[in-house]
Amino acid sequence: MSDIEKLHVLLVEDSRTYAMPVKTFIEEKGHRVTLARCGEEAVAHFQKELPDIILMDVIMPGIGGIEATRQIRRIKTDRWVSIIMMTSLGGNESLIEGLEAGADEYLIKPVRFDVLEARIRASQRVAKVQRSLHDVRQQLVQTEKMASIGQLAAGIAHEINNPIGFVFSNIGSLERYMASVFQILDAHEKVAETLANPEQRAQLASLRKELDIDFLKEDIPALIAESKDGISRVKNIVQDLKDFSHVDDRLDFQLADLHKGIDSTLNIVSNEIKYKAEIVKEYGDIPEVECVAAHLNQVFMNLAINAAHAMGEGRGKITIRTGCSKERVWITFTDTGCGIPNEIRSKVFDPFFTTKPIGKGTGLGLSLSYGIIQKHHGTIEIESEVGKGTTFLISLPIRQAGTDATHSKW
Ligand SMILES: Nc1ncnc2c1ncn2[C@@H]1O[C@H](COP(=O)(O)OP(=O)(O)OP(=O)(O)O)[C@@H](O)[C@H]1O
Ligand SMILES: [Mg+2]
Repeated sequence: MSDIEKLHVLLVEDSRTYAMPVKTFIEEKGHRVTLARCGEEAVAHFQKELPDIILMDVIMPGIGGIEATRQIRRIKTDRWVSIIMMTSLGGNESLIEGLEAGADEYLIKPVRFDVLEARIRASQRVAKVQRSLHDVRQQLVQTEKMASIGQLAAGIAHEINNPIGFVFSNIGSLERYMASVFQILDAHEKVAETLANPEQRAQLASLRKELDIDFLKEDIPALIAESKDGISRVKNIVQDLKDFSHVDDRLDFQLADLHKGIDSTLNIVSNEIKYKAEIVKEYGDIPEVECVAAHLNQVFMNLAINAAHAMGEGRGKITIRTGCSKERVWITFTDTGCGIPNEIRSKVFDPFFTTKPIGKGTGLGLSLSYGIIQKHHGTIEIESEVGKGTTFLISLPIRQAGTDATHSKW
């Protein structure tokens, strides 16, 4: 039974004699069961664990099944949970009340196991549809969000590009001009030393000291170098934003061997990774892919470095797998790192989103990667469990529609 087919059932039943056989039966079918003894416990479990199905007894001590159902339905979740009430024959009143409170189905007690099994299977079908709907919706929301962030990024990049350009060029000129100024200053100083009038010599020497000329001669070139470095970094960020937002889209798709690309990329970053993680490659048999190899390598590099950064104290493992179907190839990077909490999963592709300390990450790695995969008409998805690790799954078309790539790269 795959994980998708395996359900998490919350069984709410105050009678142990009644609960145990039902629990055993469901578990024997391969599902997981959590037991709650009253309505309050059911609500608490629901919030903590978000099961797939709730089997809810009606009459229980405390708030009872109907009120528990009402409270559960008030809790906002992003997927549907089936609530099946268990009621005794003749309890039509409570049945109606239960359905009104938010239950979907009912079973007559004592529950017949064959009926229970059929109900679970029906819920399984609903859960499956529900999950794929949820995935589609998430995907849509994500795509739309990335499109608007892309527009914003393109706008910012465009606006910043121009001033950065002239600041960069001005600093270059300033550097050259200052070199000339220092040259003439040196020449003047030499002449000054030969001055016959000692008073004038002393005056010049004191002014030189007062203005701290020796320090300026050291500091000005250092300031210029630092400014050049800063501006270069801003230029790189602007370029990353442009890449992310599809500006300058002149893509040269060529057939390439992705395994070679991954291998050469890993060689480049091996120093950054080797102490943090062992790399395991499980390459499948995949054809050459029509792509911009250098761009995909950048994605592989970002994923590998992120995976290494996610490792804790001990040395972890990064597994890279590849495979293909008829028209697509897939590549996964799986790490045994810290995992990505649900709350931030939808943000990791946003430009400048980072959880790393200042100076360690700019938060552009994944947004760039997202942009690159989009340009390849592919998808990039995350599966992650906090404390266990993360998998990034990339899927790419083997051929790009409307191009004719016949030559090979690498
Ligand atoms: N494999 C991973 N495991 C756990 N968290 C991850 C992983 N990959 C990315 N993240 C999270 O996503 C955030 C954004 O990643 P991204 O690569 O975009 O930026 P960054 O690594 O922080 O900085 P940059 O890549 O620009 O140096 C990271 O700060 C981290 O919180
Ligand atoms: Mg990164």
